[in-house]
Amino acid sequence: MNNPTIVISGTGLFTPAELITNEELVESFNKYAERFNSSHHDQIGRGDLEAIPLSSVEFIEKASGITKRYVIDKRGILDPEVMAPQIAERTNDQQSLQCEISVAAAQQALEGANRQGGEIDAVIVACSNMQRPYPAMAIEVQEAIGAQGFAYDMNVACSSATFGMQAAYNAIISGSASRVLVVNPEICSAHLDWEDRDCHFIFGDVCTAIILERESEALSDHRWEILGTKLSTQYSNNIRNNFGFLNRCDPAGIGKPDKLFKQNGRKVFKEVCPMVAQLITDHLGELNIKTSDLSRMWLHQANLSMNRLISKKVLGKEPTEQEAPVILNHYANTSSAGSIIAFHLYNADLKNGDLGIICSFGAGYSIGSIIIKKQM
Ligand SMILES: CC(C)(COP(=O)(O)OP(=O)(O)OC[C@H]1O[C@@H](n2cnc3c(N)ncnc32)[C@H](O)[C@@H]1OP(=O)(O)O)[C@@H](O)C(=O)NCCC(=O)NCCS
Repeated sequence: MNNPTIVISGTGLFTPAELITNEELVESFNKYAERFNSSHHDQIGRGDLEAIPLSSVEFIEKASGITKRYVIDKRGILDPEVMAPQIAERTNDQQSLQCEISVAAAQQALEGANRQGGEIDAVIVACSNMQRPYPAMAIEVQEAIGAQGFAYDMNVACSSATFGMQAAYNAIISGSASRVLVVNPEICSAHLDWEDRDCHFIFGDVCTAIILERESEALSDHRWEILGTKLSTQYSNNIRNNFGFLNRCDPAGIGKPDKLFKQNGRKVFKEVCPMVAQLITDHLGELNIKTSDLSRMWLHQANLSMNRLISKKVLGKEPTEQEAPVILNHYANTSSAGSIIAFHLYNADLKNGDLGIICSFGAGYSIGSIIIKKQM
C-alpha cells in the first residue's frame, strides 16, 4: 500500500516586540567589561585575573552576519549590572511564557491551514530549552488551543524543528495522528551568557509553528508536499549546555558558565559544514533530485559564512538571496526556529512543482533535512 501524501499546510511566526541592535549590545557589554576591569584593577594588575576584552560591532557583523536580534526582555540584557533577561515567574494558574508564544505562532499556522485548534490531534513542542521538565509544555499548548489527541515535548537543540517534523510525518503515516502541530518556542536569550564576549551576540528569541496533515484532507490555499525526511546525529562536545536537574546535587557547579550555552565556534564551523553538505547531497540523491532542480534552501541560521559555504558545497556555486534566503541578519541564531522562519517568510513566490529543502544543524551534532515540493 502506498503511503498517503503529507503536506505542510500552515506555518506561523511570533516575533517579540523588543529588539537589540549590535550597537546597543556592544555599548552595554563594554560598560560591563570596563566596570569589571576597573573594580578588579589590582588583581588584573597582579596577573591573578584576566581583564575582559571589549566587544566590537565590526567583529560581530564580519564573523556572523548578525545585525540585531529580537528578545523577550531587552532591559535586563542591556543593564550592565544584570546582563540577563528579566522574566518574572508566573503562578501555576497562569499560562506559561513558552505556551503563550507557542499559541501566538500556532494561531497563525492554523489560519494558514484553514483549521481550528480542535482539528489538531497531536502537538509537538520541539525546541532547545524547555522552561520546565513537566507537565510537558506541549500538553499546555494542546489545552490552550483546544487540540485533541496527545502532545509531547522533544529537544534536539537546533535541529528540534526538523526532527519534530519527521516525528509528525511518521505519526500521520502510521495513523497515530491525522493533523499535527509542531511548535518551536525558542527563548534563546535565557540560555545565553551575555557576559561572554565570544558568544554574547549569537542568539535571539522567536517562536515558529508548522502544521502537517494528509494532502487528501488539507484545506489550505498554500501547500508543500513532503517528499522525504532524513536525520543524522553524531556526538560532540563542541556545543554544550550542562544545565539540568542534577546541578543541585553538586553545589560547586551552580551558576558556573557551563550551565549556559558554550561552544567551540571554530570547530563547529569546520566539522559541521561538510557533514551538512553531505547529508543534503545524499538526501537529494536518494530522491533522484539534481541540485540544479532545487529552487530554494531554507537553511538553519547560525552564521552567514557557514550558510554560504554549505550552499556553495551543495550547489557548486555561490547561492543567490533567492536560492538561500538569509534571516539571521535580523533575527540572529534562533536555534531550531531559524530554518522555519526562513521558510515562513520566503516561500510564497515559488510556483507549483518547485522543489526546496529545509535543513537544520546544530548541537549534538544533529542535522535534519526535509525535502518539499510546492503543490499550490
Ligand atoms: C562564533 C563565531 C561567529 C566566531 O567567529 P570566528 O571567526 O570563529 O572567531 P573566533 O572565535 O575565532 O575569534 C576571532 C578573534 O576575535 C576575537 N573576538 C571574539 N569575540 C569577539 C567580539 N565579540 N568582539 C571582538 N572580538 C572578538 C577572539 O578573541 C579572537 O581573537 P584572537 O584572534 O586575538 O584570539 C563562528 O565561529 C561561528 O559562527 N561558528 C559556528 C557557530 C555555530 O554555528 N554554532 C551553532 C550554534 S547552535
